[in-house]
Amino acid sequence: MDDFFEICETDNCCDTKRNIPLIGDVAPEFTASTTNGKIKFPDDFVGSWVVFFSHPADFTPVCTTEFVAFQKNMREFEKINTRLLGLSIGGLTSHLGWFDAISKMPDGIDITFPLIDDLNMKVAKLYGMLQAGASDTHAVRAVFIIDPNGIVRTVLYYPASLGRNMSEIWRILVGLQTADEFGVALPANWAPGDNVLSPAPTTSAEMREKNNKNTWFMNYKKLDKKDIYEKICKKDTDKK
Ligand code: BEZ
Repeated sequence: MDDFFEICETDNCCDTKRNIPLIGDVAPEFTASTTNGKIKFPDDFVGSWVVFFSHPADFTPVCTTEFVAFQKNMREFEKINTRLLGLSIGGLTSHLGWFDAISKMPDGIDITFPLIDDLNMKVAKLYGMLQAGASDTHAVRAVFIIDPNGIVRTVLYYPASLGRNMSEIWRILVGLQTADEFGVALPANWAPGDNVLSPAPTTSAEMREKNNKNTWFMNYKKLDKKDIYEKICKKDTDKK
């Protein structure tokens, strides 16, 4: 144990020495210019789930495929009350030039979600998006999923060489909302429509009551897709 603490006295070790918002933390506040105008975060996004994602740099191939993928799926994210917010270490002129290039590609698309101007890396540093082992000047591919109350609920990091998976990000958002709404947990590889897990018994009476065939602490139950979507999908009548 002593060794552990000794090791952690050194630089570059332990998240307490780095600025990385973790699950359950209040999302750090900032103001920034974006390609859609100025924002105050998270205040301007309260009431929606947010996928806040960073990119190493503008005009890079993997990032470009991710931008197209995020944009193509934006409507699916909006249906589950989720807004997208991107960050790339560059200024607005560079961001707009990149958007223009993306719109002119053979499979091009107009990027409409906001991309933060973070030339001075202020926001990237605040969110632990700069990781010295990878690069001092390019953000890693970070994803922060932040809930409608401004609390960090999921943190993902990907290396520069691997583009993110939109289906997994969507699954995390549906999973978090399902867990919140129905008080359940979700097993490995869960997708809407699969069985969910009820909390394990906490008293011996509850344990004896349980009469399914599975091990006493594994309490599966059905949860219809339709019931999930009914609860979590934004209705046209919902306020913005
Ligand atoms: C890319 O998006 O293609 C990329 C960005 C930084 C380093 C390597 C690849």
